[in-house]
Amino acid sequence: MIKQAIIPLAGLGTRMLPLTSVMPKELMPINGKPNLQYILEECIDAGVKEFIFIISKKKLSIKKYFFNDNFYKKIIKKKKDKRLIKEYKKIKRYQKMIKFVYQNKPRGTGDAVLRCKKYIKNKYFLMLLPDDIIIRNNCSKEMMRLHKKTNGSIIATKRVERKTVSRWGILSIKNKKKRYFQIKDVVEKPNVKKAPSNYAIIGRYILPTKIFGEIKKLKPGQGREIHITDAIRSLIKKENKFYGNIFMGKYLDCGTLSGYINSGIQISKGK
Ligand code: G1P
Repeated sequence: MIKQAIIPLAGLGTRMLPLTSVMPKELMPINGKPNLQYILEECIDAGVKEFIFIISKKKLSIKKYFFNDNFYKKIIKKKKDKRLIKEYKKIKRYQKMIKFVYQNKPRGTGDAVLRCKKYIKNKYFLMLLPDDIIIRNNCSKEMMRLHKKTNGSIIATKRVERKTVSRWGILSIKNKKKRYFQIKDVVEKPNVKKAPSNYAIIGRYILPTKIFGEIKKLKPGQGREIHITDAIRSLIKKENKFYGNIFMGKYLDCGTLSGYINSGIQISKGK
């Protein structure tokens, strides 16, 4: 069973400036809820019991958002607002599930994941990128099902427009079934000519603890960052099985300004 989820939250959010100059993008509201809460709810619904948040000194407001007890207690004491009591209870529930790890320099997702090594208890864990919201169908749940069926590692994927492949990690496919395929190779942000397909990595991964050893061996890649994609690539080369889960839900890109605006519109339209 997969019970732990890693969520890298130390990114600078430059694609969302100026909105993110003060507020972390993960706390920006989408239809009345912080972006991050969509991710938490998806995971909890899929059976996750513990979260490891990777934050930085610049993003301490994420910690404060979940650990602001005195503030709530004082207000609730004064006015016994039912709505507030309910929201506070929700936050208390999250609080019990969250651990924090720090990454003060933007060294990439691979580096972020490696920092969680000592907390991971089982052979596999979930990793989610909060830029990527998936609504209408629980993607983490789908991935856990596929993991159970295949005993392998899983990456969420969807077809993207060919001209946009250089924005994503791209998968090379083997043995395609209706809603999943085995991954032959991965490449981080290839140019259109070199892309092996238009199946893009969307930010949901079920990874084996073996990955920590591979990350340690990596040299910085694209943009001088340590990419989880490169560690996955090494594992695939060593015959570890990875599968692409062609998820059923609707993908919302919350990592760019136009995507963020569109996410609010899509979600408010209802499920
Ligand atoms: C990251 C991953 C990339 C993936 C993308 C999905 O890129 O490195 O492989 O396709 O998330 O959102 P980033 O968005 O951090 O540039």
